Amino acid sequence: MQILIRTVLLCFAAALLTENSCCAQKNTFAESSTSLLSSWTPPLSTRGRFIVDATGKRFRLKSGNFHGASGTYNGWGDYDDPANHHAGEAAYQTVLCLDRKPLADIIEDFLRLGINSVRLPFSNAMISSTKIVPDHALLANPDLHNLTPLEIYDRVVQALTRRGLAVVLNNHTVKDQWCCGLDSNGRWNTAQSTERWIQDWLFMASRYRNNTRVVGADLYNEVRRDLLVDPTWGGGQEQDWYTASMQVATRIQREANRDILIFIEGINWVGVPLPFVPHYRPELDPVKELSHALPYNDKLVYCAHFYPNTGPNATGLKTNLGILHDRTYGQLTPKELREVVQRLAGYVATAVGAVQQHFTTPVWISEFGVGGRNEYSQVSRQWWGNFTQLLAEFELDFAVWPLVGWQERGQGDLWALNAYDSTGESLTMLDAGDWRLERWRMLINASVAEQVPIASELSTWRMLAPEWNSQQQSNWLHTRNLDQPGDRKASCPDGLRLVGLSHSDDPRGLCTDAVLGRNLWNYMDESAAVVVITSESEVQSNWAQGYIKLQCPFSAHLIGYSYEANLRLASAVCAASARLNSSVALTQYRSVWFDKSDSPDADRHGRFAPVGVPLGTCADDEVATGFAFTKKQRSGRRPAALLCAAYGVVMGSSNSNEGAHA
Ligand SMILES: *[C@@H]1O[C@H](CO)[C@@H](O)[C@H](O)[C@H]1NC(C)=O
Ligand SMILES: *[C@@H]1O[C@H](CO)[C@@H](O)[C@H](O)[C@H]1NC(C)=O
Ligand SMILES: *[C@@H]1O[C@H](CO)[C@@H](O)[C@H](O)[C@H]1NC(C)=O
Ligand SMILES: *[C@@H]1O[C@H](CO)[C@@H](O)[C@H](O)[C@H]1NC(C)=O
Ligand SMILES: *[C@@H]1O[C@H](CO)[C@@H](O)[C@H](O)[C@H]1NC(C)=O
Ligand SMILES: *[C@@H]1O[C@H](CO)[C@@H](O)[C@H](O)[C@H]1NC(C)=O
Repeated sequence: MQILIRTVLLCFAAALLTENSCCAQKNTFAESSTSLLSSWTPPLSTRGRFIVDATGKRFRLKSGNFHGASGTYNGWGDYDDPANHHAGEAAYQTVLCLDRKPLADIIEDFLRLGINSVRLPFSNAMISSTKIVPDHALLANPDLHNLTPLEIYDRVVQALTRRGLAVVLNNHTVKDQWCCGLDSNGRWNTAQSTERWIQDWLFMASRYRNNTRVVGADLYNEVRRDLLVDPTWGGGQEQDWYTASMQVATRIQREANRDILIFIEGINWVGVPLPFVPHYRPELDPVKELSHALPYNDKLVYCAHFYPNTGPNATGLKTNLGILHDRTYGQLTPKELREVVQRLAGYVATAVGAVQQHFTTPVWISEFGVGGRNEYSQVSRQWWGNFTQLLAEFELDFAVWPLVGWQERGQGDLWALNAYDSTGESLTMLDAGDWRLERWRMLINASVAEQVPIASELSTWRMLAPEWNSQQQSNWLHTRNLDQPGDRKASCPDGLRLVGLSHSDDPRGLCTDAVLGRNLWNYMDESAAVVVITSESEVQSNWAQGYIKLQCPFSAHLIGYSYEANLRLASAVCAASARLNSSVALTQYRSVWFDKSDSPDADRHGRFAPVGVPLGTCADDEVATGFAFTKKQRSGRRPAALLCAAYGVVMGSSNSNEGAHA
């Protein structure tokens, strides 16, 4: 949530409180929530650009943000005075509105909006707080008295999931404070170490492991510049969000919870908002050349945020408007908005049937929202219309901000879809007079592709980028820790094979299960042969004259590699390929050169290294069985050729082990 986003609250509307709100529809929603509970089966996973449930049925996240536990305090003045909290709402480190409405009723009101999931922000401070939440913050929920914030968070998770709502845990802030200005919450390690952050996530992901309707871990909210330092996507420094998120996600999967979806936001803001100084929102733009290969590779979802009063180059700070003329998303024409949303987020969720890319995942717009009945700006209203249109059309997953807020006599925080007064009286978007409702109904009930391709028909592509940190993404190799030369190790997630490399000092890799499926190397089999190749011992023909060649043994294929700077030491990691049958084996070998220009179409599944770095990949139905690099130090030792092989019919019997390498 952007700073000052709701200063518009001063502009009060004579909103309409209608009587029909709470009781008329009781029966329908009781029914609809029962069907929500039985309508999907956890755990969730991803298939291409879709989120699917355990039965393979599409589960589009139609979510809302239930905030408060992450903090509402503005950071100065008396904590107990609501005036010192964002929008005048004091949450006391629990979800908002527990002072005015029983939790169960709040949840029934959510269900009536048509959502199926909730993003549930928390702060690090909430986890470790031992202070009992004061009774006056829980007036409508006496059963929650004498509990710590974390214990209340537990109860909220339980209550939501019991009604069938999927819950995404969201690490929103370090401190118990409203997000997102210069509040020391800009980075996961601004106020403490990355290791502490990882430990906290392992704690949270483990805590809810046995509640399978807790479907996601949203690693950090709106990573952005602190006073002096911009976060980066790659680079290996302290502020490298790509590397930190890769590390925490990998460890959550290996040590805490392998079923949970991992949500990674792009970078929300870099630069200083001054004229002639670069300042913008990278969001998911960098993903197209640098994406994550998680050990369980069907669990990743990328996220981005959009508001009418922020923009591709606009912070959302009203005070900027005098000196800066960066337009907000609200001020873009519909055509520009479409292009920007596509460039910063939508492209990641490639269209149905399109060629899969290494970055193809679902995209969750985990925050978007607008003032409600006291919002009269045409800019904001038209933005809502156009933005919901894009969400519907691109079929993106979404989470509106926020679900709950405070109101008195129809005035107050009407960004909230459901606002409650101090007696519990509700004013919801479903009551007459809220201009947002028509588009919300359109969005929530928009028809979406039900037909998700079956897993075996959809290939997966993932990339490796070990230049800042080893990426031993194969669990098999990670646990066995074979002896490999060099300090950088890279391997494909189990089930995928290595089919591409880049011509760079720190070679990047491309992995897939295309055409030949996930069981080419039977990694579930403890005795599955894996060898580390460090010499030319297996080379049988000179397929890259004048180059050092690391080649897999006969009928094995690449799954990883390791190296020291400039490939002075290097290894190829090879796994035995399952033969399709006794008369079909790897027989057709060819060299693919890529040191001068890309091999043809090497980027057809996305560029996996920056523009200008040549790439080489085998064809979709081939395996890579070796790579070659120059001996010449002065030209830099970089991979220059791949040995690709295809299955072919073996002439005569099945014992031809000659490996007639062309
Ligand atoms: C949440 O993020 C903050 C800020 O980086 C970090 O200090 C804290 O440890 C994180 N908590 C969890 C549970 O990840
Ligand atoms: C989850 O684990 C907790 C603590 O280990 C236990 O008390 C609880 O009964 C478990 N819940 C389920 C649904 O298994
Ligand atoms: C605005 O953002 C774009 C990227 O979205 C960037 O290329 C451009 O340099 C930015 N303009 C300024 C003034 O920072
Ligand atoms: C989109 O914005 C334009 C103005 O830029 C407006 O005319 C149009 O009505 C909006 N579309 C929707 C669906 O609200
Ligand atoms: C969506 O459609 C269903 C079935 O027509 C209807 O009952 C429900 O109220 C609609 N949801 C919203 C939010 O309008
Ligand atoms: C072996 O596999 C090939 C290709 O899938 C197939 O055409 C052939 O019939 C198979 N042979 C046997 C004996 O199963």
